[in-house]
Amino acid sequence: MQVANIKVERVKESKITQVDFDNLPFGSVYSDHIFECDFVDGQWQTPNIKPFAPIALDPSAKIFHYGQSIFEGMKAYKDQKGNTLLFRPLDNCRRLNKSAERLAIPQFPEELFMSGLKKLLEVDNQWIPTKEGSSLYIRPFIFATGTGFHASPANAYKLIIATAPSGAYFAGKVKVLIEENYSRAANGGVGYAKAGGNYAGQFYPTQLAIEKGYNQVIWTDDNTHEYIEEAGAMNIFVRINDTLITSPTSDRILDGITRKSILQIAKDSNLPVEVRKITVAEVVEAAKNGSLKEMFGAGTAAVISPISGFGYKENDYELPELENSYASKLKKTITDIQTNKTEDPYGWRVLV
Ligand code: PLP
Ligand code: COI
Repeated sequence: MQVANIKVERVKESKITQVDFDNLPFGSVYSDHIFECDFVDGQWQTPNIKPFAPIALDPSAKIFHYGQSIFEGMKAYKDQKGNTLLFRPLDNCRRLNKSAERLAIPQFPEELFMSGLKKLLEVDNQWIPTKEGSSLYIRPFIFATGTGFHASPANAYKLIIATAPSGAYFAGKVKVLIEENYSRAANGGVGYAKAGGNYAGQFYPTQLAIEKGYNQVIWTDDNTHEYIEEAGAMNIFVRINDTLITSPTSDRILDGITRKSILQIAKDSNLPVEVRKITVAEVVEAAKNGSLKEMFGAGTAAVISPISGFGYKENDYELPELENSYASKLKKTITDIQTNKTEDPYGWRVLV
């Protein structure tokens, strides 16, 4: 499919002058255009780029009834010369297809994804923020447009890539509650996929945590609730003494691109790193005896977000504020690579 020839329908009037690029929220101001591609008659059709606008769907579309919906989260950055950069974008495309497989959604061709995304970024180039700490958040998603109340996969789907110039995901300190009751995912389930329903299922327990004064839930394993697994939209890292620890990925945990980048950078910086199961008991014990130095979440939206404290079984534990934290060092290294302020020995950066 020739993406170079895709039809681009431009907005009559851009909304960009209404946007305060110095005070960007996260993910709630949208760029002028979307990339859109429909799957009908057993294949993905010629895509197009068109104005960001509401879409009409049949009330019997299966997205509404059976939640066949997946998404990705990625970012575009500007470097100081004005180049547009992506970070490991093929990994997002491959994970989208991994999610698609699990939700019985057809695979989206990699080449079409990459060239469509690049074309969209050319069309909405002015929307990519330049201010430090801001970026263009990119949200590719696929959902079932095919109709019918029969509980079976749809015969039609839509892929959209929409973008949102965005600032930080978390406004202030991040305080988390370690979950003892609810579960985000189970063995054999869809936890490793970026399925919309995974997030819907987290909202209620997270609301309960917010009512208690926390920002986010730390999910534990569904079987025993004794092991720390991940946060709502982030993978989780714990530093005990000098060792950085994160849980291994599994059926239940999203294989985060930020997580695996951090592991690589930490290894190459000679930080002691362990990928192993982490018990809640050892984290509580480490908090009590002072060996728990840091906890942080890692993800595209949240980048690296230090955790200031956690709650568990009605007790609160504070974490120290460190001058030279692993979180700040790793965040600087990863964002410097993303924004072309340093060499990229890994080939992660992709010029658009
Ligand atoms: N875990 C969950 C549940 C997520 O939604 C995300 C966000 O994408 C992550 C982890 C981090 O993944 P990544 O670093 O690829 O953005
Ligand atoms: C991301 O980090 O890109 C995510 O997808 C998290 C999202 C749920 C806000």
